[in-house]
This record gives sequence, C-alpha cells and structure tokens, in this order.
Amino acid sequence: MSKIIKNNISYGMKKLIVGNWKMAPDTLKQAEATFLAIKKKASNLRNVQTVICPPIVYVETLAWHVSGHRCVVGAQNVFYEKGGAFTGEISVKQLASVKASYAIIGHSEHRAMGETDEEISKKVIVALKEKMKVILCVGESKRDDHGEYTRFIAEQIKSALAQVKKPQLVNLVIAYEPIWAIGKDADHPATPADALEVSILIRKVIADMFSKKDAFSIPVLYGGSADDKNAKGFLSEGEADGLLVGRASLNPKKFNAILETANNI
Ligand code: PGA
Repeated sequence: MSKIIKNNISYGMKKLIVGNWKMAPDTLKQAEATFLAIKKKASNLRNVQTVICPPIVYVETLAWHVSGHRCVVGAQNVFYEKGGAFTGEISVKQLASVKASYAIIGHSEHRAMGETDEEISKKVIVALKEKMKVILCVGESKRDDHGEYTRFIAEQIKSALAQVKKPQLVNLVIAYEPIWAIGKDADHPATPADALEVSILIRKVIADMFSKKDAFSIPVLYGGSADDKNAKGFLSEGEADGLLVGRASLNPKKFNAILETANNI
C-alpha cells in the first residue's frame, strides 16, 4: 500500500495518536498536569495529530488548555439523543460546546457493559451528522482458526456504518482493538502482522460498503497494550495510521515517546 493513497486527505501524512484515559486520573489537578506535559511535546510535532480523551468531567477544563490544533480533546462516549430525560448521558452538541472534537464510540469496555450494536450505530450516525470526529472501535474477544473473528469484525463495521452517508466518512476513524490484547490482563500482545491483517479486512469492508477510495482514506488505528516499545512496529510494519493508547497515555514520558516515534515515521 503506497503511503500516498493510504493516508487521509484531512490528516495528510500525519499519524493520529489518541490517548484513552478511561477512568483515570483521580483528580482534575493530575489530569491538567498530565495533559500539559503531553501538550508541550505534541505542540511541536508536525507529523502527529494528538487527541486526549479524558473522563468527561475533565474535558472542559482540558479543552481550555488547548491552543492550536496539534493536541486536542475528545470524549470516551456520547449519547444518540439530542436532549431530554436521559439521566447521566451527554449529547454531541454538549460535547462540541466544550470543544471536544472527537468521540470514541463502541469501545469494548463499553460494549461489555451492555452497549449494543444498535446503540453504537445510532451514536455513530448522530455524531457524524453533527460533524464530530468519530473513533469507532471494533475487535474480537478471541481468535480462531476458521476466520470467525474476521466475520465478527466485518459485522461490527457493517452494523455501525449501515446508515452512514458517504460524505460523512471524512470524519470517521476506525480503531482495531483486539480485546485479548487490551489492558493489564491482556492474554498476549498483538503483533504488527495481526494489526495489518485486520486493517486490510477493515478497508475491504469499507470498499464493499462505500468505495475503494473511501477504504483508503479512512484512518485505521491499532489499540491494545500499545506503548513506547511497540509503537514503531505497529506504525511501520503494521502500517497503522495511528494508535489508540490506554495505560501508556497516562504516563507523559511513555506517551511522549510514542508521539516522537510517530512523528519520525
Ligand atoms: P491499553 O488500552 O492500551 O491499556 O491496553 C487500550 C484501550 O482500551 O483503548
């Protein structure tokens, strides 16, 4: 795959590195300190788009610290209704009003809490309609020898994007996150070859649903125990357009090393 056709027009040759802070850190003070340490580095990197997705309570404050567009803030989830009696939920407009420009949708930890394919599809539609950038997470819980996992991932994508219109794809990012490789209890790490195999599958599904051109313009990220040691492999050999980083994104030293690596690829 040549670099020229592979990379998204809006990202140019940039790598997209997303930090998913999950339910950490415990205090706003720590969140600000971590964000500022990352922003300092990220602001100097021409070839990387950095996105930090903190717990929702920190989004607004961190967004105030954003200057320029190299390091921005996103949310870990969003709701599909525009407003009304939905206790605990947050709308796309509310996120946009506090300058969150990305939303992770369909993370496996959220799916495990009961989020359905139908809900994910509604969230994707509403977010893309409002021109929010969507990071759609897909990935299997285990691999098998018969390729069942590839059908599972293809179905996740088809279901999430069934009602998406072609022009809306400019704001779509897909993150491949094999569940078996996520978190400190991960079975074993994924290899760049695992990531590449599924990114080719993802592009094939997009080509069948939309077009070849769309398939090559949507950034496909890898996530699951990505860190400063393996980032280079996933970004070069694995041909990932970027990374979705959990634990290592809370450690500015490690995360900044990932940013530096991505910048130099
Ligand atoms: P991890 O999490 O990097 O801690 O494995 C990744 C994710 O769940 O997005």
